[in-house]
Amino acid sequence: MELYVFDNYDEISRYAAKMVSDFINENSNCVLGLATGSTPLGMYKKLIEYNRDRIVNFSEVKTFNLDEYRGLSGEHPQSYRYFMNKNFFDHVNIDKNNTFIPNGTCEDVAKECRDYEEKINELGGIDLQILGVGSNGHIGFNEPSSELYAYTHLADLTEDTIKANSRFFKNIEEVPSKAITMGVGQIMKSKRIILLASGVNKAKVIGRIFNGKISTENPSSILQLHPSVAVIADKKAASLI
Ligand code: F6R
Repeated sequence: MELYVFDNYDEISRYAAKMVSDFINENSNCVLGLATGSTPLGMYKKLIEYNRDRIVNFSEVKTFNLDEYRGLSGEHPQSYRYFMNKNFFDHVNIDKNNTFIPNGTCEDVAKECRDYEEKINELGGIDLQILGVGSNGHIGFNEPSSELYAYTHLADLTEDTIKANSRFFKNIEEVPSKAITMGVGQIMKSKRIILLASGVNKAKVIGRIFNGKISTENPSSILQLHPSVAVIADKKAASLI
């Protein structure tokens, strides 16, 4: 695994945005896997600037997001579709028809999951996947467990995750307890992965990605088996490597 450590959040955001824009410049019609959450926000901001300054062009890029809350429509301010539109898609020259996020309000979840997998595969799989990581080790919403799903599925969120994500909602009761998420198999099939981490609350899990054993109880540890992962972390997140 490659490791890039920087002093602060701003620097990791800039470095990640540069890596993503270089990748797009070499593969103009690539398929990106995208994450929500606090960590990639700075990278999206920089990519918006690069797009405005014509350093990167999203017109042929396709994207698949990792996950969406079950029960929230794309108009809900806490849905991941809303997050992506507001923080990224609305500000770059991407064709929104080429941006895919599971539909949290679909009637038939199993079909939605199957269709999502098929769409990813039809477009040739994910070329570059952006990941954040939960302080409990989750990637996407693949939570620590005795078993993991390979493919897109409906996941139960753990208490830790519900608590961590309640910061975005009015109160903890409003946080959905389930989400549709890509599975670890689809994430691991990505040709390249960039994992972003910032802050001391990610230090333990980042340390374990580099030094720990592989375990389904720490889904991010599976990344050790991937041939092309770049971890971009600030000093605090990298402090236990
Ligand atoms: C988001 C996602 C999650 C987050 C993780 C870290 O689409 O899949 O796995 O990447 O919960 O979230 P932040 O960046 O808010 O610490």
